[in-house]
Amino acid sequence: MQESPLLHRRGIIACLGFMEVIIQPTDESAAALVARIVAHDLRANPHLVLGLATGKTMERVYRQLVRHHQDSGLDFSLCSTFNLDEYVGLFPSDVNSYRHYMDEHLFRRVNIEPRNTHLPNGLASNLDDECRRYEALIQRFGGVDLQLLGIGRAGHIGFNEPLSALRSRTRVKALTPTTLKQNASAFGGEEKVPRRAITMGVGTIIEARRCLLLATGSSKAEVTAQAVEGPITSMVTATALQLHPRCTVVVDEEAAAKLKEKDYYRWIFENEPEWEEYR
Ligand code: GLP
Repeated sequence: MQESPLLHRRGIIACLGFMEVIIQPTDESAAALVARIVAHDLRANPHLVLGLATGKTMERVYRQLVRHHQDSGLDFSLCSTFNLDEYVGLFPSDVNSYRHYMDEHLFRRVNIEPRNTHLPNGLASNLDDECRRYEALIQRFGGVDLQLLGIGRAGHIGFNEPLSALRSRTRVKALTPTTLKQNASAFGGEEKVPRRAITMGVGTIIEARRCLLLATGSSKAEVTAQAVEGPITSMVTATALQLHPRCTVVVDEEAAAKLKEKDYYRWIFENEPEWEEYR
């Protein structure tokens, strides 16, 4: 049987297998680096399938990407996007929906085709069918090339709350009290935050060809150290990224505060040829 080009490509990358940590001085420079990696990959492949994340941390990345589009013509016209998650029960026009977030921060500010942007539909009458449809759609697009990720205070990626199976697929997930608290201010109170969301599973996320996680600020220091240097556990779903053959974690000094191997990470960024154009 002939090996598919996709498997072949994955095979090569898998041989390289590593997680890299890059420490930047500030939250701005960390976000700028993430945006430069996205811009680089998009220029190299205009048909890039980009996995997108939401949250405060990502706002800076999207601001930078908009700047790349305005200042140097970064072209989004052929790329497709898949967001990690969406709340159940919110209309796309709701200011707290992730569809609204993406329109505001990125989609309407760059030349992306709206029909190429995908988020799970949290209003679907049959949510399980919607989850299956979303998974199939990702497959139909050939899988995600580059997945952007933030990290929640509970250590989650997407809305993969503690005890999410590390092989889980897109599904409906009930949010933990920590997450409800973390997201309460946007809704004007914890009781107004939807209790459930549709999220790509951990298994879905780590199938992306490359993962790029951004964590900034002291509130993320503990959970970043757990995610990068702690044991792999479904209690902190970001630890599953350690299984990924090509994952880059970008942090600012504050989020890096509790990492044990900082000197090693700095040495790699300063010396490895892969990072030359980003230094
Ligand atoms: C939510 C999102 C996550 C995001 C996290 C962090 O839980 N579902 O994808 O990573 O928030 O958000 P922030 O960047 O605001 O800390």
